[in-house]
Amino acid sequence: MVFGKKRKTPVRGLEGVVAAETSLSFVDGQNGKLYYCGYDIDELAEKVCYEEVVHLLWFGELPDQEQLDDFRSELIAEMRLPNQVDELIRRSPPNANPMVVLRTALSALGMYDPDGGKNSEAANLRKAKRVLAQVATIVTSLYRIRTGRPIVSADKSMSFAANFLYMLNGRTPKKIERSVLDTVLMLHADHGLAASTFAARATVSTLAGVHSAICAALASLKGPLHGGANTKVMEMLEQIGGAERVKAYIDGMLASGERIMGFGHRMYKTEDPRSHHLRKYSEKLCRHAGLEHLFEISQQIEERVRKLKGIYPNVDFYSATVQAALGIPKEYFTCIFSLARTAGWIAHIMEQFRDNRLIRPTSNYIGGFDKKFVPLKKRQ
Ligand code: COA
Repeated sequence: MVFGKKRKTPVRGLEGVVAAETSLSFVDGQNGKLYYCGYDIDELAEKVCYEEVVHLLWFGELPDQEQLDDFRSELIAEMRLPNQVDELIRRSPPNANPMVVLRTALSALGMYDPDGGKNSEAANLRKAKRVLAQVATIVTSLYRIRTGRPIVSADKSMSFAANFLYMLNGRTPKKIERSVLDTVLMLHADHGLAASTFAARATVSTLAGVHSAICAALASLKGPLHGGANTKVMEMLEQIGGAERVKAYIDGMLASGERIMGFGHRMYKTEDPRSHHLRKYSEKLCRHAGLEHLFEISQQIEERVRKLKGIYPNVDFYSATVQAALGIPKEYFTCIFSLARTAGWIAHIMEQFRDNRLIRPTSNYIGGFDKKFVPLKKRQ
């Protein structure tokens, strides 16, 4: 059959397939390095705030002080939601996954955005600022509503990360909390053509707008093989309960062919550079927060998995304990990842718009032919 001759072998999981050109981030999986617009993240960690990295990804350069002050003010000014979206969050079922509420609220925001339907560079940039700021407000509002506390408005005098913690907890965050969240957000801001970023680029390649693309990206990030892994890591740590039970748990999981959440990566053949920074924070913060046992369990898991499978922790492994030590409930971990990665998604969306061609791969048809049609009444 002619179809058989034309058939190409599909690349499972699109591994190694180049689907875009980008100047935003480079994952050097052989050497365990990650670069944002040419900057090594090891160089940026602890030296830049999240807004500086967002500015870098969106405008291609780190801001000077004046640009940073202006950019921060613009973002903070957008940290509010239309009443209808606030109401939608209030009416969401109390046990709905926060990622589902985030995705739904973000989708609803598309209906109220003053630039909805416009795809010019200027309109996209205005939407970008609103979307990034509003993702923060959706997450903090949901948390406040579910914990029966009043919603806290943003404070113009605080940074983006500080505002997030302020709106979440209703108190001015400590310096260490602010700076750790800045670094967590920075480390998660972009990562080449991750599944969610591909989803965002594929969506805007049809000329659907920013909100549609971010919804697609959120839907993709939610899955446990992607951003949803951080919540699963915490569930595993809680299930294990003590360092002395790690060996039996890990050996049992691997023997039955189960995956250990927070381990392995398509791109990295060595240690994920983000995990190196997060491990350091996890140790320090867990000690301060009285969660040393969680760090100890994590370390034992890392040792055992490396020994048995030769694979390393990815970004989601130590980010779980870092977030727990910051007082963030595990159901919200993937929302924090979303907040950070919204910067990268938007940068990719704008890059795709600048040089767009419809993303439309092909598939091998492996179904049948020449089936005889039977009218509905005669089917059995
Ligand atoms: N636990 C146990 N084994 C794992 C593993 C994990 N977390 N991740 C990969 N492996 C093993 C696979 O079983 C496979 O082994 P085999 O060759 O003996 O069959 C091998 O490593 C390659 O795995 P594969 O599924 O082909 O890799 P991938 O590139 O398709 O998958 C992930 C990448 C991230 C989806 C995968 O590592 C995974 O499921 N990790 C757990 C979920 C997670 O932490 N996701 C967050 C990613 S940032």
